[in-house]
Amino acid sequence: MTSSRAEHDTVAYTIENRVAWVKFNRPEKRNCMSPALNRRMGEVLDELEFHPDVGVLVLTGEGESWSAGMDLKEYFRDTEAQGLAGTRKAQRESYGWWRRLRWYQKPTIAMVNGWCFGGGYGPLFACDLAFAADEAKFALSEINWGILPGGGATKVAVDLLSMRDAMYHAMTGELIDGKKAAEWKMVNESVPLAGLRARVEEVAGVLLKKNPVALKATKDAVRRVKEMTYDNAEDYLIRAQEAANSFDNEGRKEGIRQFIDEKSFKPGIGTYDLAKQKHTA
Ligand code: COA
Repeated sequence: MTSSRAEHDTVAYTIENRVAWVKFNRPEKRNCMSPALNRRMGEVLDELEFHPDVGVLVLTGEGESWSAGMDLKEYFRDTEAQGLAGTRKAQRESYGWWRRLRWYQKPTIAMVNGWCFGGGYGPLFACDLAFAADEAKFALSEINWGILPGGGATKVAVDLLSMRDAMYHAMTGELIDGKKAAEWKMVNESVPLAGLRARVEEVAGVLLKKNPVALKATKDAVRRVKEMTYDNAEDYLIRAQEAANSFDNEGRKEGIRQFIDEKSFKPGIGTYDLAKQKHTA
């Protein structure tokens, strides 16, 4: 048995002034993530990623929760009853959309309006920026019901917090509020709930004025270089900038044109005529 809400309605979104406001939409279940919600979120991310009216994506929650983590019944108990195949499928569906969100084409902002637990740390980390209500409550609650913080949650804590704070947070399962989450650098800022949306709109407005190619290159670079030596990072950043510069690479298109349309060369046995290419450098 799954909950009565139709899969399609587990996620809601509106597009206003080039911002997509995407909501976990199971308020009656505190927006915990069921397999249905995970599947639907994947579809919504697909729908919005290259939508011409969307410049920034905000992920928030309907009602008093951001997300109460994984659905203990539908994600854990029901899928475990289907054996390993069921568990692995549910993991692919959830981890899949979090991974997509980490490398999303558009800049992303988590707007944490309320409860944020366990598995919720996956999408929280996946968003480029995060703003919380002072009143929001966060916990790695896994330890409270007898598991370790899986699904990347331990990794998120260790990546974002100091070792001591991560250890305390994971081992005690204690709640912290938005202010503490900001102090611990889990979110960029915390503001009173009444002003949260206005603050996020303001930040989205700043991002909307930036070059989108540069924004995508920048957000990816911040995540990538973290794991690199200085020299590797320096090299990566040179390549990333050069790739961004030639994002609309004419050479590739010219090669295809000469082979497919002009039939003047065959890539298997020769190379295209560079002289015919319009140079932009
Ligand atoms: N999984 C499954 N169901 C959940 C859920 C979760 N993670 N979080 C909330 N729900 C369900 C409740 O079972 C309840 O369902 P019901 O109305 O059919 O009985 C409904 O959502 C409302 O939850 P309730 O506990 O009554 O709301 P509350 O406002 O009193 O408490 C929480 C809110 C978030 C503190 C509490 O629901 C909770 O502790 N949830 C689990 C959080 C958690 O540890 N998540 C980590 C999972 S990795």
